[in-house]
Amino acid sequence: MTTHAQKIKLSPSILSADFARLGEQVAEVTRAGADYIHVDVMDGHFVPNITIGPAVVAAIRPHTTLPLDVHLMIESPEKYIKQFAQAGANIITFHIEACADAHHVVEEIKKLGVKAGVSVKPGTPLDSISEILPSLDLVLVMTVEPGFGGQLFMENVLPKIARLRDEIDRKGLAAELEVDGGINATTAPKAVKAGARVLVAGAAVFNAKQTVQEAVQALRESLG
Ligand code: DX5
Ligand code: ZN
Repeated sequence: MTTHAQKIKLSPSILSADFARLGEQVAEVTRAGADYIHVDVMDGHFVPNITIGPAVVAAIRPHTTLPLDVHLMIESPEKYIKQFAQAGANIITFHIEACADAHHVVEEIKKLGVKAGVSVKPGTPLDSISEILPSLDLVLVMTVEPGFGGQLFMENVLPKIARLRDEIDRKGLAAELEVDGGINATTAPKAVKAGARVLVAGAAVFNAKQTVQEAVQALRESLG
């Protein structure tokens, strides 16, 4: 394993897990060596799908000691951050496209003792987050249109990941660079080469072809 690969974190998305036995699946992926647990929250407004809310975050909390990496794909995220923090979220990421005052939302998240992240959809330029970048703990670059698991990785987002990596390094910023959407053993190395350091993976981790353990191992091995 290269030093590079050792530093890469995996954040399996429970969106593709078996919801009827979510606690068990979260424990399984924890044992398999995940770094975070990625929780996709969708409201049927910001994205055309509805998933889970704070009650489910609270329900999985006792099943892992890993940080819960909560990805809010919702309108007016400021209205719900307190509930997610109380439910046990460790990182709360909201979409820059979903709110008018991102600075305020970041401050509110941090006041609750939670790490703050901002996400950009594939077509959203980096300019939209450059002012807030120094205050962030995490930036999440979407490599699919948010809304559904199991979509194809958008290769045309790679240059944006590389530009963001360069900006973070050049300015010496603390933000972790996470990518989300279509990550598998083929696309993971491309995302890492471009500069991603945290990989979200749903369908590649929870699928009928492999055990969770095998899937996590295959992703790690793909990074060399
Ligand atoms: C998409 C979600 C992703 C998704 C990733 O809107 O934000 O986290 O679950 O799933 P895969 O890895 O299957 O593309
Ligand atoms: Zn996500």
